[in-house]
Amino acid sequence: MFMNILIVLTIIYLLYKFSVRNFDYWEKRGVPYPKPLPFIGNVFDLFTGRVGIGHLLADFYNNYKTPYFGIYVFNKPYLILRNLELIKDILVKDFNYFPDRTVLCDEKLDSLASKLLFIAKNPEWKFLRSKISQAFSTGKIKNMFPLISAVAKEMNAYVTKNQHSNFIEAKELCAKYATEVVATCAFGINSNCFENEDAEFRVIGRKLFSTEIMNSVRQVAYFFAHGLVKFFKLPFFDSGCVKFMREMIHSTLENREKTQFKRNDVIDVIMQIRSKSNIQDAYKFEGDRIVAQAGQFFTAGFETVSTTMSFALYEMCLQQGIQGKIRSEIKDSLIKYGELTYEGIQEMKYLNMVVCETLRKYPVLAFLDRLCIQDYKIPGSDLVIEKGTPIYIPMFGLHYDPQYFPDPDKFDPERFSDENRNRLPSYAYIPFGEGPRVCIGERLGLVVSKLGLCYLLSQFEVARCTETPVPIIFETKGIILASTVGLPLKFQKSPIITT
Ligand code: HEM
Repeated sequence: MFMNILIVLTIIYLLYKFSVRNFDYWEKRGVPYPKPLPFIGNVFDLFTGRVGIGHLLADFYNNYKTPYFGIYVFNKPYLILRNLELIKDILVKDFNYFPDRTVLCDEKLDSLASKLLFIAKNPEWKFLRSKISQAFSTGKIKNMFPLISAVAKEMNAYVTKNQHSNFIEAKELCAKYATEVVATCAFGINSNCFENEDAEFRVIGRKLFSTEIMNSVRQVAYFFAHGLVKFFKLPFFDSGCVKFMREMIHSTLENREKTQFKRNDVIDVIMQIRSKSNIQDAYKFEGDRIVAQAGQFFTAGFETVSTTMSFALYEMCLQQGIQGKIRSEIKDSLIKYGELTYEGIQEMKYLNMVVCETLRKYPVLAFLDRLCIQDYKIPGSDLVIEKGTPIYIPMFGLHYDPQYFPDPDKFDPERFSDENRNRLPSYAYIPFGEGPRVCIGERLGLVVSKLGLCYLLSQFEVARCTETPVPIIFETKGIILASTVGLPLKFQKSPIITT
């Protein structure tokens, strides 16, 4: 008996020693850090679900004034940046030292995920980005504009039909719209999201970003607990979602080949890239590499857009003055062009200010991350960032820092007037990231979000109802910013121009 207790105690002691073995890493390098706990390091609150990753990093950010500080995720040292000049060096100037994200990229665990631009590592990332960039050109986005407008009209018809219910959940409404946009622009498919609550596309979309425990653990572990992912052989995506994407994209490609049908959508672009690939290319543009390039419109496109749109609607229901200003801008544009056009949307300055402020207060992805791939000496400091060190940039911390954004909890689009924007230091506002790995869908995401908002506000006034959460309680699971109870709002018919 005594022997058994001794063995258990010895094992616990050895595990404890093993878990704290790196805890002098930042101390030795003179980098400030919060005191870590054995086994878990500084991410106890993240793994117990008390806070989400964005808020956890922001809490740390607020406790330091130094250009950078360290934390421990389990026992691994991570460097967190605060200084804007250093953020610029790492994201842009010295990108060659930091060309990859920290998210695990393992073809054997998840072949499809490893070929998404967001996850792919160099040199494959460089190859894929150069190929797929053409799908995001202004010309291509303009070509998609009529497709997006058609979906926005469907959304308005859906809201008209449901306007008398107690509320419409704005996140779900915008997710339907964004899913339908992706289905039509990227895959040439009508996904039926507005007619059918259980449309397959929407069901898969819900699954991809569900905050169910298994899904959240998987997503967070791919960033912070690679050992766990490898040990349990966890794929990044649910296998049902992957099967759906593979089948849908292959059958669309086959169908297009047979019929030679052209639709100015992403599938057309992918077919062009495939036909122009040659044997000198470092990678073959085939199989999951193709599926991933189309699939990332779904995985990266719809949740980001619906989050941005729904938080913008939420703020406008709380501040009717802001809503009134946008509605009057929409009215001017409708009078000038007769309908909502690409040019008209680009000219709407106040709409742009509101969307910028939405992305400041609600950055969809509340952090940026990079992996150091060769030793790097921080300019003007003695610290050498060692190869293999994960670097995090707390976007939430920056976007709520009162030295850049006074009274940061206030939703104030005037922060982004031309005059104020010029005063804002570079890299304090980075909702789409920066440098060569900046969001490739920034322009598309903005056009889709703005057009959707304009369509809605041209027909409806958005109002607060008893179910609207004030203040918002943020979801602590997963990596995308969300409200725990969604965003229930009231839509009241009030066309800007009556015919
Ligand atoms: C308002 C909407 C959007 C927001 C706020 C957003 C935000 C972001 C952010 C913060 C990143 C990381 C950038 C970095 O690490 O520097 C990113 C990357 C990315 N985004 Fe977006 N995004 C949006 C819309 C879209 C859309 C519509 C697409 C379309 C497919 C898209 C595709 C991607 C891809 C593929 C990457 C990875 C780029 C790479 O590593 O080369 N995003 N996005």
